[in-house]
Amino acid sequence: TDLSHIRNFSIIAHIDHGKSTLADRLIQQTGGLTEREMTSQVLDNMEIEQERGITIKAQTVRLNYVANNGETYELNLMDTPGHVDFAYEVSRSLAACEGALLVVDAAQGVEAQTLANVYQSIEHDHEIVPVINKIDLPAADPERVRTEIEDIIGIDASEAVLTSAKSGIGIAETLEAIVAKIPPPKGDRDAPLKAMLVDSWYDPYLGVVILVRVIDGVLKKGLRVKFMQAGTEHLIDRVGCFRPKIEQLPELGPGEIGFITAQIKEVAQTAVGDTITTVVRPAAKALPGFKQVQPVVFCGMFPVDAADFEKLRESISRLRLNDASFSFEMETSAALGFGFRCGFLGLLHLEIIQERLTREYDLDLITTAPSVVYRIQLNKSRTDDAREIMLHNPADYPDPSRIASIEEPWIKAVIYTPDEYLGSILKLCQDRRGVQKDLTYVGGRAQVTYELPLNEVVFDFYDRLKSISRGYASFDYEQIGLREGDLVKMNILVNAEPVDALSMIVHRGVAEARGRHMCERLKDLIPRHLFKVPIQAAIGGKVIARETIAAMRKDVTAKCYGGDISRKKKLLDKQKKGKARMREYGSVSIPQEAFIAALRMG
Ligand code: GTP
Repeated sequence: TDLSHIRNFSIIAHIDHGKSTLADRLIQQTGGLTEREMTSQVLDNMEIEQERGITIKAQTVRLNYVANNGETYELNLMDTPGHVDFAYEVSRSLAACEGALLVVDAAQGVEAQTLANVYQSIEHDHEIVPVINKIDLPAADPERVRTEIEDIIGIDASEAVLTSAKSGIGIAETLEAIVAKIPPPKGDRDAPLKAMLVDSWYDPYLGVVILVRVIDGVLKKGLRVKFMQAGTEHLIDRVGCFRPKIEQLPELGPGEIGFITAQIKEVAQTAVGDTITTVVRPAAKALPGFKQVQPVVFCGMFPVDAADFEKLRESISRLRLNDASFSFEMETSAALGFGFRCGFLGLLHLEIIQERLTREYDLDLITTAPSVVYRIQLNKSRTDDAREIMLHNPADYPDPSRIASIEEPWIKAVIYTPDEYLGSILKLCQDRRGVQKDLTYVGGRAQVTYELPLNEVVFDFYDRLKSISRGYASFDYEQIGLREGDLVKMNILVNAEPVDALSMIVHRGVAEARGRHMCERLKDLIPRHLFKVPIQAAIGGKVIARETIAAMRKDVTAKCYGGDISRKKKLLDKQKKGKARMREYGSVSIPQEAFIAALRMG
């Protein structure tokens, strides 16, 4: 296709504003899908994605569109995920496009996440085409939303397309707007090949599939290519695109987006942002490339049944084949046995992986409290001259006398909320050691900016925010670096033994409250024993909170008054079963549920 007839665009929107529905309509209208195939959303094809309604992996579909001027255009639509955890995927798809559809819900209006993505898009010099969706809703107010887009985002929305993706209104107009407003790509067919590696994933039939955007030159089957950053060479064995069904093509020319395969076994061999060129006539300079994504939230994952450890290892390795953004290494815990320390881009990412392990791989898991990465400066010691460590796991906390300073990651959070919830939201941020930076009002809604320690956000900040605002507040964040903090390791001791899986790094100022909360929780969760069981929270040798589980009567059957023998038997059976799911901890048995519940604390 000649460059003037190509349009590459992505769709940016806040979660639930209708991005996937609109994408499916565009595919349907241009003949990629039948009405029946439309019923199940096509772009989200993983089971969990559908259930959660979240698009995890960015995908690209090519559409052939015959415009009102009679000419046929090649439209490459890149789907992008809407959630903060996946912001890096948004960034890489934006880099492969010349424009974006900005989808805004006609009733909800502009939200914080929308802003973050629009600004990224503007940074990429994109032409932004506003689309006001869900105009069929009774609460729809397209004129208010049009003004909001102009006031808040600062782009002209006078020609915004009004759509109802659900009922198929405004779809033809959207396609015309794409052709008219989004500029065609530039590129040189005769220049040395230069293609950007946009994304890659593992497919059981094709091996690693690589999504590319060709800048200059031509990609063809049989070509020997070089990945400039990785320094590796591969032979291309397939070239094609998705419509959304897979289709092989003779070539991908400049400006085009499509996929290649080259018998690559692991996603880890394909760095996103790498430049692909030919071996015989390489490009002089590589593309700027992307920032490497780093996991920011870590937790331990342990099988409930120790016999499942190998199965867990296999399942995690298989998931990792397809998602190079999470990391794992083996970990042993005295309380929980063998498991893995895993790193994620954020809490949602953690939840998705956890859910896939549970559901697709049928594993019963215990996940320890999420923790961030701390940088610790050490004093020199005689035996060890390490100066600095990055702490991913509270269990590796060094001897406190060696610690010179601890730094923790901070974020800048932008929260966008209807006015009536502002008070409670400010209190929440304040309680989480937040520092208010800005507060402005736009059209009856408040936009508040806070700097917060990530440590205080990974617990349950998002859930709390949603519950106090009845789901109306939206939240977006970016990392702003490390800051020193008065951070300590808090141990939980059951019957004077520290339980490693429950220890955590906390700010000294909130340690006592957290410790008390944890002890109270555990008191209710751990059953009585034949002896008194103290539960304590301690920092170093100093106990900061304490609860005691009273001893139980000698024989549970005593309360049966010797009468009913079957009842007695049942009770004994129950006791036995209970035991099977306990972890023996010193002389104390802690039921699995107690760990899970204690670790889910807020
Ligand atoms: P994520 O994939 O989670 O980012 O969400 P999304 O922006 O892709 O939203 P999606 O297309 O999944 O739509 C969210 C919900 O809004 C679904 O229940 C859709 O059926 C509904 N929806 C989408 N478009 C319209 C519309 O025009 N009108 C109405 N009434 N509902 C719509």
